Amino acid sequence: MLRVENLSKEFHSGRGKNAKTVQAVKNLSFQCKPGEIYGLLGPNGAGKTTTLRCLSTLIKPTSGNAWIDQFNVLDHGQMFRSKIGFLTSDMKLDGYFSPDYMMNWFGRLNKMQDSEIEQRKEKLFVDLKMTDFIHKKIDELSSGMKQKTAVAISLIHDPDVIIFDEPTNGLDIVTSKSVTDFLVSRAESGKIVILSTHNMTIAEKLCDRFGILVEGELKEEGTLSGIIQGSDWDNLEDVFFSYIMPDSTVGGEHV
Ligand SMILES: Nc1ncnc2c1ncn2[C@@H]1O[C@H](COP(=O)(O)OP(=O)(O)OP(=O)(O)O)[C@@H](O)[C@H]1O
Ligand SMILES: [Mg+2]
Repeated sequence: MLRVENLSKEFHSGRGKNAKTVQAVKNLSFQCKPGEIYGLLGPNGAGKTTTLRCLSTLIKPTSGNAWIDQFNVLDHGQMFRSKIGFLTSDMKLDGYFSPDYMMNWFGRLNKMQDSEIEQRKEKLFVDLKMTDFIHKKIDELSSGMKQKTAVAISLIHDPDVIIFDEPTNGLDIVTSKSVTDFLVSRAESGKIVILSTHNMTIAEKLCDRFGILVEGELKEEGTLSGIIQGSDWDNLEDVFFSYIMPDSTVGGEHV
């Protein structure tokens, strides 16, 4: 079980008269259970990446905490981190090396035995349909191939919680489908998957539950049918618009 409890993050910049504080995430709480895919939706700047970076232990929350079973992000950072696979667009892969080499490197970084790394690579390379390019230099790969490589690296240690920030961004529909099918298979095997996306079609198909984040606050949470039933709308996209552009003209009769 993953529990996020009253998580807040403020960023401070500038000095004196130019000092500025951005409250990127405000008192955010939600939970995910094994086997569930949770979609964090929100417009640009809503606080999705900041939330996911706090959960990945890359940055420290200003207040609040997050738990995976008995381990929390503040007191058990290393143990918490070992249970997480984090994918972000910021991930820089060294272009000189091959996916196969990078997997070995990250496997060892995660203190895995060589035999365990071999088994894991075999599974991930097949599941993600990567076998044709695992020995090519990363510099010579297409962006979809690089993205699959980043996905595989983030999951080398078979984490219980998969946290993916916009995993299908920039991918064609075939590559995007292989990544989303893979996430579904991971959830079916009992993993927790949390992802952020701007793609409502993918979100509707993929996620069991959603949180709609606007200006750092969780405005809505639930299953697709639960969210739609409690609204004036009949699809997720219109519910989403009703939160981010409350005065706008979206959706059937409400135009
Ligand atoms: N390192 C930082 N320093 C200062 N402000 C930051 C920093 N990172 C994020 N912010 C601010 O926090 C807010 C939330 O940003 P965040 O990247 O979490 O949004 P997002 O929901 O992921 O948006 P997008 O959909 O564009 O990726 C924004 O106002 C952003 O400018
Ligand atoms: Mg983001």
